[in-house]
Amino acid sequence: MADYVGSIDQGTTSTRFMIFDHSGNEVARHQLEHEQIMPQAGWVEHNPVEIWERTSAVIQTAMTKAKLGPEDLVALGITNQRETTVVWNKKTGRPYYNAIVWQDTRTDRIASALDRDERGDIIRRKAGLPPATYFSAGKIQWILENVDGVREAAEKGDAIFGNTDSWIIWQLTGGRHGGVHVTDPTNASRTMLMDLETLEWDDELLGFFDIPRSMLPEIKPSSTADGYGTTLENGPLGGEVLITGILGDQQAATVGQVCFAPGEAKNTYGTGNFMLLNTGKELVRSKAGLLTTVCYQFGDDAPVYALEGSIAVTGSAVQWLRDQLGIISGAAQSESLARQVKDNGGVYFVPAFSGLFAPYWRSDARGAIVGLSRFNTNAHLARATLESICYQSRDVAEAMEKDSGVVLEVLKVDGGVTANELCMQIQADVLGVAVSRPVVAETTALGAAYAAGLAVGFWSSTDELRENWNESKRWEPQWDDEQRTAGYAQWTKAIQRTLDWVD
Ligand code: G3P
Repeated sequence: MADYVGSIDQGTTSTRFMIFDHSGNEVARHQLEHEQIMPQAGWVEHNPVEIWERTSAVIQTAMTKAKLGPEDLVALGITNQRETTVVWNKKTGRPYYNAIVWQDTRTDRIASALDRDERGDIIRRKAGLPPATYFSAGKIQWILENVDGVREAAEKGDAIFGNTDSWIIWQLTGGRHGGVHVTDPTNASRTMLMDLETLEWDDELLGFFDIPRSMLPEIKPSSTADGYGTTLENGPLGGEVLITGILGDQQAATVGQVCFAPGEAKNTYGTGNFMLLNTGKELVRSKAGLLTTVCYQFGDDAPVYALEGSIAVTGSAVQWLRDQLGIISGAAQSESLARQVKDNGGVYFVPAFSGLFAPYWRSDARGAIVGLSRFNTNAHLARATLESICYQSRDVAEAMEKDSGVVLEVLKVDGGVTANELCMQIQADVLGVAVSRPVVAETTALGAAYAAGLAVGFWSSTDELRENWNESKRWEPQWDDEQRTAGYAQWTKAIQRTLDWVD
């Protein structure tokens, strides 16, 4: 038996390929960024062809670095930025339009119209999602309505839709010469088109957006021994490897963090933050502004569900300090700058650049910096930015407690921002809960590798995977309750100002 599993992680800002051994240790990786295309305020696009080229390149380079061939991989998993929408012609292989990214708010009017009649509540009940620009269905509708020739091609069955998992698998398995058009329930649960109970596309939901069913990929389990298809001899792996795992990236991180029992949660700190709580076989419908989503479906087992708190802007607020304000030269400097002050000096920053996601779901909200006085410096703003990441996570944690009754004892964290030690300390302080980071911080790619490896018996069970998880660092809360309560009260007022601005 081959000794390794390959994992493609197609994210919002970059694509990476990682190779893992049986202990879940990284053997090699390569990563490349792709262009963020912003044609106008609120619009965010990616070039799907560039994404596929980057995917091919990272696979080839990582395999070369590891001195491995396709025969060394027992299986291949894929994980991806969710919701981001690609529509392409299956005969020519050409996308009709750039990928419309999850952060894009151009479908604001499509989304807000859904709550003017009963459609909003039907979507909440069937798909577990509040109507919002975030999800794929409105983006598909926008392409059908605004790009010449797509509607006719879709009706003939030639124009097909996928998130980037489907797009890449289609390319890897043959493209226009017979590529497989497939996805899994974790990705499908983010479209607003899948019924959470049946795990099938729902005709009523499709009707709300006037989307032909023939555009959609087949939904198969997140981990399947049969596989979705096989890579090609002349593809980037240079040989045939069965693709046996697909997970949306936040669900993949939940699997990589081995949150397999109901009540276990993780928080991933990337461009945005995504906290997922495993709710087991129970489909918990949120009353507090969270999403109900599929956590994973392995083989023939019943699906496992999760509650999710999605936050649009966290790490990207740090990028904003660097790119738009120019007050830091790199992400690491946000920590050293913020350490120059002992507290936020009264400054609170709500980075509602894409509106506010969970638990508010207000796409019309805009960012605010409040509490400024002449005393304040860049250092206070850097500190307030890190605090905003942590306070937004507290908003989500509060909602999770309301919905599930689960009180967090420790928060498992991962993602790029967890390298910021000050931010992790603030997170423990703001939550009043210990924060724990694992040794393998690349939990997203690892989770997709686990899904793929479980399918082919490389790992025998989720219990075996638990043994691979080890803590690298833990932060204990240092604030007292009074400080924590006072800080959160100020944050809540700052959020209110953000919402008042647009009222
Ligand atoms: O829902 C969006 C999420 O999947 C994006 O994750 O890590 O690519 O920013 P990331």
